[in-house]
Amino acid sequence: MQEMTRAFRVSYIEGDGIGPEIFASSRSVLETLGECFKIIFEFVPAPAGDQAKKDFGEAMPKSSYSAIRESDLCLKAPVGETALETIIYLRQQLNLFANIRPAKNYRFIESKFRGVDLVIVRENTEDLYVSREFEEMEGRKAIALKVVTEEASKRIARTAFEIALSREASRSNEEKKLRAPSVVCVQKSNVLPKSDGLFLRSCDAVSKNFPSVKYSSMYVDTAAMNLVRSPESFDVIVTSNMYGDILSDEASQVAGGLGLAPSGNLGEDFALFEPVHGCAPDIAGKGIANPLSMLFTAKMMLDWLATRKRDSNCAAASKCLESSISAVTASGVKTQDIGGTSKTAQVTQSISSEIRKQTGEWIDDGNIGTIKEDVLLKW
Ligand code: IPM
Ligand code: MN
Repeated sequence: MQEMTRAFRVSYIEGDGIGPEIFASSRSVLETLGECFKIIFEFVPAPAGDQAKKDFGEAMPKSSYSAIRESDLCLKAPVGETALETIIYLRQQLNLFANIRPAKNYRFIESKFRGVDLVIVRENTEDLYVSREFEEMEGRKAIALKVVTEEASKRIARTAFEIALSREASRSNEEKKLRAPSVVCVQKSNVLPKSDGLFLRSCDAVSKNFPSVKYSSMYVDTAAMNLVRSPESFDVIVTSNMYGDILSDEASQVAGGLGLAPSGNLGEDFALFEPVHGCAPDIAGKGIANPLSMLFTAKMMLDWLATRKRDSNCAAASKCLESSISAVTASGVKTQDIGGTSKTAQVTQSISSEIRKQTGEWIDDGNIGTIKEDVLLKW
């Protein structure tokens, strides 16, 4: 049994709108998990976004950027209108090339579809998101650059295949019968044979190194349709930045709601975790925001720490967090958007109590142990 206490420096962006409320929820739940699983989270503020722009004159103050650079990872709540200067900037500056967006059903959340368990692996540094736009004819004509490189396309393709393999490795024999590992490359190479064509050819080439993973390609319009026709048929979707943005909102709604969807922006040795949704200014300050997307985001963070830092306490904390969310939601303590009447704070407190209740059992079960293989990143 691993008893050692590990400390991680977590820089955080509270964001705007409902950001501070849902961030506070994840922080207090992480602190509870830290106590129960002997993990120290050192939270370092990195104010950024619309409010930071008002307070400091910059949406991403240099001091915040430095705090992020000096941390082990960043936990970010949604920001408002300053996304370009904050999250898009960070993805590019920190070379967070892979945006991992799981969309899955949970037993305890109602949804129109069942059996959804897919992950969108979105290229995170190129495409239209290089934000290079030009105007001509005094603004009556506008041009946007779409940049695609073989290097970034192959890199994201490798990530997608590796995730397909690790998902397969973490499935039970029963689940293996239901789902074979697969990667589908989503693009529009019929209209964009050079840019999307390069993305597709790069994925095709990488697929040859992963013969045990079923590989196919699909145009983005067809993928959008199939996501609402047979979402359960997808395993891993690899796609470029803009299509990944659009399809991930769609997929999360199909799986149970945008209010649940987490994401991880991963680089070689740094990562930033954030919910997929925006800052919902219409319900800000009312105490009714669903904290679950931020809590599932915290879970992704724990999974990443478990794997990258080989920390078995984080692995155990992640499992406990998921089962506590499950127990609390199943008992009916949930926010309005998913059919309940509870406030953000009630959901948060119930999940923390559930963690404390389960902790003895988890530790007694020997769940804190040594991580033997890198199969935890099963997103
Ligand atoms: C997301 C968001 C961002 C994006 C916005 C806020 C710039 O929608 O993370 O999906 O388009 O990537
Ligand atoms: Mn988006």
